[in-house]
Amino acid sequence: MTQDELKQAVARAARDYVADRLPVGAILGVGTGSTANFFIDEVAAVKDRLGGAIASSEATAKRLAGHGIRVLDLNDIDAIGIYVDGADEIDAGMAMVKGGGGALTREKIVAAVADTFVCICDASKRVQTLGRYPLPVEVIPMARAHVSRELAKLGGTPKLRADMVTDNGNLIVDVHGLSITDPVGLEERINQIVGVVTNGLFARRGADVLLLAGKDGVQTYTR
Ligand code: A5P
Repeated sequence: MTQDELKQAVARAARDYVADRLPVGAILGVGTGSTANFFIDEVAAVKDRLGGAIASSEATAKRLAGHGIRVLDLNDIDAIGIYVDGADEIDAGMAMVKGGGGALTREKIVAAVADTFVCICDASKRVQTLGRYPLPVEVIPMARAHVSRELAKLGGTPKLRADMVTDNGNLIVDVHGLSITDPVGLEERINQIVGVVTNGLFARRGADVLLLAGKDGVQTYTR
């Protein structure tokens, strides 16, 4: 199977997960990226069950609206039943690196509100140790140089992502060459650097459920 076929398979499994478990009329959180896009196209088939959706990016909001799915403002709702999103890497403890698409801050906000975080991935995303994929950090523009110097002290190599402005008007610095043995500790440490909006480690609030597509089908893991 190609990687796109695996993404399609896991998107279908996530649609069924949502249709089976999300109460009719409840709010669905929707992630960003190519796997999330497959999911949006699949979940459109069950859109009448949804009370609406919270989007983790402008791109996701546009795609949801294109399917006639009602996109709500997070400030107008009290709860999100399920949040479905991809990841760049996920480890056995369900900690993730996210933000390859630059939407990490809104993704982290939606994940914080959601009761259940369902991560959808193809098998290439499952790793023993996080860090091979560069860790994205969203940075206030005037703090770019300061934050990059502080990130370098952690042992990795920070690089400003070219031609990237986030939906929040900020920059992304990707930290290359990290070996992340303490995801919770590193997530907290980076968030303490003044000028950082947030970083792409989703460890304090990791995934609750992983749907992982491999050559033998889609496997379900729970925390
Ligand atoms: C978006 O900012 C990211 O967090 C994505 O969820 C992540 O990069 C996975 O994207 P793909 O499904 O495109 O690999």
